[in-house]
Amino acid sequence: MAPDPRMIELFSYYRDAELHGAGLLLRLTKLLGDDPDAQVKLSLHVAEETHHAWLWTKRITDLGGKPMAVGDGYQSRIGLRTVPRKLVDLLALTVVVEERSFDRYKEHAARPDVDPETKKILEEVTKDEKWHIAWIKGKLDELAAEQGMQDRADEMMEKYRQIDSEVYGELRAKEAAVFGELH
Ligand SMILES: [Fe+2]
Ligand SMILES: [Fe+2]
Repeated sequence: MAPDPRMIELFSYYRDAELHGAGLLLRLTKLLGDDPDAQVKLSLHVAEETHHAWLWTKRITDLGGKPMAVGDGYQSRIGLRTVPRKLVDLLALTVVVEERSFDRYKEHAARPDVDPETKKILEEVTKDEKWHIAWIKGKLDELAAEQGMQDRADEMMEKYRQIDSEVYGELRAKEAAVFGELH
């Protein structure tokens, strides 16, 4: 049976978001070169995001599909609206992006019509996203305090949350158009 192209598309968006997330972390890895604590955590964090991308890729191929090129995914849409300039900006954006993926995966896992294989992946990735949020938020607070940039960090969190909610609204509308309903 041919896979449902809508599910292949949805998982391709998840995969794209994970790969972009890994890209953001690689930028942080460069910027935090003299912070060994951050280096240890970033190494595991990047490994987990790329593993998440693999889990979605495998889900797609297990269904008999192929990963689709995604040109207008979550991070691409965010990138059209803002470019983080400072380290605290990048950390704030990472917190917001991680929170979004945590909420989204949790919401998807709670739907009544999720197949067991997909549910297993959703639960596994959600577990990882939880500590991702916690440590990046901790690092943001630490650096903001050290650099006297608490106001900037707060301002950026607010700005990125606003952008995130606009972008997520667009993606939900697109999803509703594809699936015929918000489920
Ligand atoms: Fe992830
Ligand atoms: Fe994450």
